[in-house]
Parts: sequence; structure tokens; C-alpha cells
Amino acid sequence: MSLEIRAVEPDEVDDLLLADQRGFGGEPLRPGASRSWTTGELERTRVAFEAGRMVGVSRTYSFELTMPGGAFLPAAAVSWVSVLPTHRRRGVLTRLMAAMHDDARARDEPAAILTASEGAIYTRFGYGVATWRLGLTAERARIAFARPDDDEGTTRLVSREDAEIACPEIYDRARRTRAGMVTRPDFWWPQVFWEYIVGRAKASFVAIHADAQGRDDGYVVYEIGGDWSGGLPDRRLSIIDMQAESPATWISLWRYAFGIDLIGTVAASNLPIDDPLRHVVVDSRRVRVDYVNDHLWLAPLDPLGVLSARSYAVSGRVVVEVHAPDGTRSLVAVEVGDDGTSCVATTEPPDLVCDSRVLGMCALGGNRWSELADAGRLDVRRPEVLTLADAMFLATPAPALLSHF
Ligand SMILES: CC(C)(COP(=O)(O)OP(=O)(O)OC[C@H]1O[C@@H](n2cnc3c(N)ncnc32)[C@H](O)[C@@H]1OP(=O)(O)O)[C@@H](O)C(=O)NCCC(=O)NCCS
Repeated sequence: MSLEIRAVEPDEVDDLLLADQRGFGGEPLRPGASRSWTTGELERTRVAFEAGRMVGVSRTYSFELTMPGGAFLPAAAVSWVSVLPTHRRRGVLTRLMAAMHDDARARDEPAAILTASEGAIYTRFGYGVATWRLGLTAERARIAFARPDDDEGTTRLVSREDAEIACPEIYDRARRTRAGMVTRPDFWWPQVFWEYIVGRAKASFVAIHADAQGRDDGYVVYEIGGDWSGGLPDRRLSIIDMQAESPATWISLWRYAFGIDLIGTVAASNLPIDDPLRHVVVDSRRVRVDYVNDHLWLAPLDPLGVLSARSYAVSGRVVVEVHAPDGTRSLVAVEVGDDGTSCVATTEPPDLVCDSRVLGMCALGGNRWSELADAGRLDVRRPEVLTLADAMFLATPAPALLSHF
């Protein structure tokens, strides 16, 4: 199969949308719907053409990824990946991934990141699960908070127009407080959030939290659905998006959600694994975990660049050798001491030897080196370094991607 791989032109956007819809088996965009996410950074699309027809689409966006310590890493955010059902398993995705990674390297982006429709697709391209997402459900009537509410802030329900202004500003502050968070560019909100995510809800609401000084510091967007079965309200409140600048505000938003009347069940599908709800209620067993799934996948295209961009929790020194899918090898010494952190390329013997996927899993502190060593995913040359490496790479709070792209 002879393929041409290139970016699309503005007059090919309709074809791009159609190929994406056919590849995912999804619904067409509603007439008049925003195309902001479709038309943003079109030059970063990488589309496969066979005999002039689109058979596979993919693209990257220029994101900032929050690293442990709060620095931003420029990252290629991979999205829109799909191949027509007529052309699967012939290497189209493999060609697209190579083209996107080449482009990311040319832009000096040390990492590529994505979320996956299926968990088995991307390991072969050097991606590892950097953050996990927690889904939970709780019966509202069974949830009581253990301590009285001492929040001196306020929560207010706002109109869609007000939310369109306030939410991006709050999100942009909140994303700085946790590793694994990413940019939401201005062109993300209209199509992805308001049209695709919120627009599909029958009844959605936005509540904004402000601190005691009146400064907005968190919000929750939620949907209420379900029945009044037999005269009793058995409705479900599903959290669509919750963001907070501090753990205290996050807990206040949970209190708000569980305080809403006429609700049977409260559910959330994308929470960090260190979500505090179970610690603040009387009966933690009533907070039911539905799943812990992979969420952000990270491929370190430049291991030294990735490791240099983060901070480390304790002092120490560890030398990591990383093998990429294309056979290249990187050897990086990470040293943290009283004088600060240094990450340098080295030629000395490594303490830990792994592939890109494992570095992708540990880079943000979302997995411990020792658990991957136990799973046989890592060659430990100096066992005495393992516990130290766990401690150095730990990230607090736990890394999480509280977004979608
Ligand atoms: C996932 C998808 C893009 C793969 O495209 P493709 O062109 O068939 O992939 P390739 O032919 O390049 O496959 C490369 C390798 O990955 C494997 N692979 C591809 N899709 C896979 C999947 N869904 N699960 C497991 N392995 C998969 C192939 O078997 C192949 O393995 P091999 O090298 O050992 O033979 C395509 O199946 C698709 O469009 N799926 C529906 C939309 C979707 O889920 N997109 C991903 C969004 S994150």
C-alpha cells in the first residue's frame, strides 16, 4: 500500500471530520457546532492518503504537561487517531505515529502524551501509563461527612455564559497544582467541552466555589439524569468536570455534590487515585470504586529532557538506562542534593535498565519503580537503589490528568 502522509489544508477539514467519524464509528458533528478543536493547529495534523483519499487521521497539539514540582514540559498531545475500517492492520497507524513523533522531536518536545481508546494499542510505540483514573459511585443517603463543614467560602450556581468565562481561568490555575495536568487551549473549550462533553448532557449545571475572600478557586460541572421511580427520586448526579486549586476546595465541592436534594447516586468517572472522599466520610466503604483505569500515557522521546523538567522528593542519585522502540539507548544520571538537581547524560554503569514504556510510567511518579521491578518490567542492576528511586520519584499530590483530549 503506497501512502502519502501530510498535514491537511483548511479546505480539507470536512474530509478530516468525515474520516474521523468513520474511523471511530461516531456521530457526525451537529450542524452549526463549533469546529474550534478541529481547526486548531491544523498544521500538526498527520493524515494518511491512499490514491488521494484519506484512510487514516492523527494529529498532535502543542500542550504543556505539568511535572512534579510545577514546571511545564512542552509535550506533543496525540489525538484524533483513527484508521478507516477498510484499511486496518496494514501499518497505517505505525506510519502516522512515526510522523507525529518526528514532528515532536523537530519541535524539541521531550514527550508525547495521549489518552487511549483501548489499553493495548500504544505500548509498542513506547508509551507507558503515567497516570491512573478512578471511577467511583456512592449512594447519597449513605454518605455523611465525618467533620462539620468549616469552609468559609461560598458556592454559587452560574449561567453557561458566566461559566464560559470563569471555568477556563480556574482550570488554568488548578492545572498548576498537580503533575499530569495539561493545557486546555482556548480552542479546546468550545468544541470539546461545551459542545461534545457538556452538550450531550440533558441537564447540566455549573457551580463555582470562591474562597473566604471571594476569589474563585474551584468549580464542578455536573449532569443530573434518571427517574422518579414509583414517586421516589432515584436520580444520578454525574460529575462531568471538577477542578480545585486546593484539597480543601476539592472537599468543599464534594460536600456540595452530596448535599444536592432529590439525588440517589453520585458518580464520577475521572478522579485522581488519591481522591480524599473516602477519608472525609464516616463510612469509607460506602464510597465504591468502580474502576482504576489507565488515563494519561506518556512516551519519553527525550529521556534526559523529561527527567530534567521535574523536581524530586528526596536527595539521592540514580542512573537510569532507557531503551527506545527504535533501538536507541539513553543513559541519564539524576542527582539531587543540597545544591539542587542535576540531570546529565552519562556513560557510567546504570542502576536501573528499562524501556521507554517503564520510564513513561515512572516519569511523573504515577507508578513506583519497585512495583514494576516486581512485575519483571525492569532490570535492577543495583537493588539497593530501588527504594531510593521510589522515594525520589514520588509526586505529591498523585499525578492525574483531570482533562480530556
Ligand atoms: C487503533 C487503530 C488506529 C490501529 O490502526 P492500524 O492502522 O490498524 O494499526 P497498525 O496496522 O499500524 O498496527 C500496528 C500494530 O498494532 C496492533 N494493533 C493495532 N490496533 C490494535 C488494537 N486496537 N489492539 C491491539 N493491538 C492493536 C496491530 O496488530 C499491529 O501489531 P503488529 O505490528 O504486531 O502486527 C485502528 O484500529 C482504529 O482506527 N481503531 C478505532 C479508533 C480508535 O480506537 N483509535 C484510537 C484512539 S486512541
